[in-house]
Amino acid sequence: MQIGRFTIDTPVELAPMAGVTNRAFRTLCRENGGGLFVAEMVTSRALVEGNPETLRIVTFDEDESPRSAQVYGVDPATVGAAVRILAERDLADHVDLNFGCPVPKVTRKGGGAVLPWKRDLFTAIVRAAVDAAKPFDVPVTIKMRKGIDDDHLTYLEAGLIAQDAGVASVALHARTAADYYSGTADWSSIARLKETVKHVPVLGNGDIWSAEDAVRMVAETGCDGVVVGRGCQGRPWLFADLQAAFEGRPERVTPGLRHVAETVYRHGELMAEYFEDEDKGMRDLRKHMAWYFKGYAVGGDTRRALAMVSTLDELRGHLAALDLEQGYPGADAEGPRGRAGSPKKPHLPYGWLDSRDLSEEFEESLREAELSVSGG
Ligand SMILES: Cc1cc2nc3c(=O)[nH]c(=O)nc-3n(C[C@H](O)[C@H](O)[C@H](O)COP(=O)(O)O)c2cc1C
Repeated sequence: MQIGRFTIDTPVELAPMAGVTNRAFRTLCRENGGGLFVAEMVTSRALVEGNPETLRIVTFDEDESPRSAQVYGVDPATVGAAVRILAERDLADHVDLNFGCPVPKVTRKGGGAVLPWKRDLFTAIVRAAVDAAKPFDVPVTIKMRKGIDDDHLTYLEAGLIAQDAGVASVALHARTAADYYSGTADWSSIARLKETVKHVPVLGNGDIWSAEDAVRMVAETGCDGVVVGRGCQGRPWLFADLQAAFEGRPERVTPGLRHVAETVYRHGELMAEYFEDEDKGMRDLRKHMAWYFKGYAVGGDTRRALAMVSTLDELRGHLAALDLEQGYPGADAEGPRGRAGSPKKPHLPYGWLDSRDLSEEFEESLREAELSVSGG
């Protein structure tokens, strides 16, 4: 998979996930297999303002290459300035732009997955990012959804606009904002995007839970690479399976509980290091516990204790008390995990659908769209 000047041997991207894909988690994923590993999203404004937590997000391991950051923004000038900061200060080697956020408080202001509806604004944001990155040879890519809902699809047009603007690849989460995380991703839309966008790689995203799913997505859609999100939550070894599958090897990682426990502890250590604060690190680790132990026989009390862990010592104690000889539970540890939910009628600014171009009345509301963003 080619992303600008970077050749990625395994055609796999770790999906940017706010609150999940920090440096600690990426280290675990990268140790398992190849691919492109995208950091958590940062907002363009926070970056321009030099917010300390935002600057922590765009830190990478020394051996991380390319260093891949994701930017969310709604204003071309601010996005351009943010990308310039990342490139000029040598903070990142690749910048992905997020046009996939379906959260009502963002779409209500015209941001996230409903932004590409305003063609002129979308074009201006992508161009500003590409122009800012070009002197530094930093590839810019986009990640989007299919559109607002089935009656207001934007992805084919947005893909072409982005290609014309000079992006290095386009990724599609094959759902609309209205779909949220419900149902199954519509992989046929990835095939349509691949038929439409011919000059840059097209990456497919949505509902890859196993290496077999990834290979099937490529076979069914012709996409150049896959983007894996929830499927690797609590399963960083999925990247070993993905690499094996794309190299045509049959072996798969089927960890017993001892391997899971060792990984959780290492994750804890990496978290403490990343936050430079054991307490913060443990707090952030808590959300991963249910994902790690999905399908394993671990009692309710132990699960609760693990989900409230506050020191590495405590974590070691809880993990040591598990039945570490327990083997891989098979199907119970596989399949869908993480965020799900039902379709939601997208909240939009009043009159948003009336025109494909941006008018002044939306500018104030868009500024607020950037303040409330929280993921994709
Ligand atoms: C917890 C969480 C946080 C996410 N944060 C982001 C984000 O910051 N930027 C983004 O583009 N997508 C974000 N997403 C969407 C994922 O990148 C991905 O598109 C989506 O989960 C579908 O892929 P999957 O079926 O493999 O999970 C997030 C998803 C989850 C579950």
